[in-house]
Amino acid sequence: MAYHKFDVVIVGSGGAGLMAAMQLPNASIAVISKVYPTRSHTGAAQGGVAAALGNQEEDHWQWHMYDTVKGGDYLVDQDAAEVLAQEAIDAVYELEHWGLPFNRTDDGRIDQRRFGGHTRNFGEGPVRRSCYAADRTGHMILQTMYQTAIKNQVRFFNEFFLTDLLISDGRCAGVVAYSIRDGEVHTFHAKAVVFATGGYGRAWSITSNALACTGDGMAVAYRRGIPLEDMEFYQFHPTGIYRVGVLLSEAARGEGAYLLNNEGERFMQRYTPTLAELAPRDIVSRCIVTEIREGRGIAGTGEDTTDYVYLDVRHLGEQKIREKLPDITDFARTYLRIEPITEPVPIQPTAHYAMGGIPTDLEGQVIVDENRTPLVGFYAAGECACVSVHGANRLGTNSLVDLIVFGRRAGKHIAKQLATNDLDFAPLPKDPESATRDAIERLHSNTGETEGPIREEMRTVMMKLCGVMRTAAGLKECQAKIAELQERYRNVRVTDPSTTFNTELMEVLELGNLLDCAEATVAGALAREESRGGHFREDFPDRDDANFLKHTLAYRDDEGGVKALRYKPVTITEFQPKERKY
Ligand code: FUM
Repeated sequence: MAYHKFDVVIVGSGGAGLMAAMQLPNASIAVISKVYPTRSHTGAAQGGVAAALGNQEEDHWQWHMYDTVKGGDYLVDQDAAEVLAQEAIDAVYELEHWGLPFNRTDDGRIDQRRFGGHTRNFGEGPVRRSCYAADRTGHMILQTMYQTAIKNQVRFFNEFFLTDLLISDGRCAGVVAYSIRDGEVHTFHAKAVVFATGGYGRAWSITSNALACTGDGMAVAYRRGIPLEDMEFYQFHPTGIYRVGVLLSEAARGEGAYLLNNEGERFMQRYTPTLAELAPRDIVSRCIVTEIREGRGIAGTGEDTTDYVYLDVRHLGEQKIREKLPDITDFARTYLRIEPITEPVPIQPTAHYAMGGIPTDLEGQVIVDENRTPLVGFYAAGECACVSVHGANRLGTNSLVDLIVFGRRAGKHIAKQLATNDLDFAPLPKDPESATRDAIERLHSNTGETEGPIREEMRTVMMKLCGVMRTAAGLKECQAKIAELQERYRNVRVTDPSTTFNTELMEVLELGNLLDCAEATVAGALAREESRGGHFREDFPDRDDANFLKHTLAYRDDEGGVKALRYKPVTITEFQPKERKY
């Protein structure tokens, strides 16, 4: 057995994982990543990171907190939103001091741009809050953090795939991971484990997410009895490249781009007159689907999966486009052969971000029930976690804030616990690698089908029936289909026997993780008979605070499937739930 012992093991090398690692200068740390760290999905974040610096116009963290709560349709835990908005300011300056090349104002301060749902004075109108580096902010954050981690001599285990979470004596004891390079299974024994493994957008057929976003941390935790929180709240970003899904940043609309229907109308002005194209994403995505369904989409079939609308940046002028939006305009050229300086760009909503995930408290400690009981030694941060700061819908640029604020808090909490000896090594369970070895052996000896058809059918059904708009009938059909795919998956076969870079085996393990995340998502969506944020039920179009102002916790049955849905109250401090008007 390949055995490693570290004070802290961090799984995932994106913004949350690296930010946690940076808080632990006196601990031995391993960062495990299934990709090379600078390929982590944080690098795909484009438009910016929100912080009420007030560099361009008056702003206050209280306004940021309010926008976060309102944008999340009041399902946000408001203590978390307060932490996010307040600590965003320091966290952004910390990145600046590490050398992040932000765009600058004329007098040399960090420049800021508009983004959806971010407003001045509690909703009066858009505010410039997003700190940015052109339209490649996540890329810059990732490079800056990785270089800082290397300088701090953080130890990386690259191309290691997480397969199991070790729990003994009611504490977290470490993880098991598979080395993609040579097929060896490794045990990592640790006093604390941080999951920073990202989202699961690959469960949908049109997604902005990288191939690596397969819900690995969420599924591994779920299979070990930890609930998944608020999985029904999945965000569709309004402007994915038509058919491809690759993100065209909201920064375009922040800089003044329009959304146009087949009549050339800026239709968002009709739906949300105050913010127009800069309304929160759940609203903009629904408006796009409505335009298409009502026949104002551009291919004209009235099918929300085959039609599109336009994102139009032409009036911004060539200089601004080249300066502020270089990457996304290149994406349009590469994927659609369209020149955005002279032509509008076809777009459609794309599966983008999980508001739900592994439940945590404000220090990043994973909690296992509605009483907020922590699993000692286990932490989660970033998209795989749910500290409930995004509620039912995340505001653009709040994901990078979430990574840096809550990754930092998790790291700091662990550092404090280590210093006071409140964390120690839990004994390893007997034969810690057995579950992983058994699973891999079974996949090699199975005689069923290969994984491709199962994956494609999952992605298609999730897109069609568990997307921007949902109904009970559609969700029931989707649930039955996912159950059928789970059944077929039990006998799925890996044809490649190799132990060296066996990408087929990786894809099969990832598919298992996606199916588990999809199953929890659909169960939560079916049970939530209301519409709130990113979860829109056509058969229950109103928000129902009397019955559903609460978080969902989905628990898995040992035999597979969702065993139970339980509920956890929402923390409300400053802002009583109100109707969202923009
Ligand atoms: O549109 C964007 O640039 C995406 C940002 C985000 O998801 O926060």
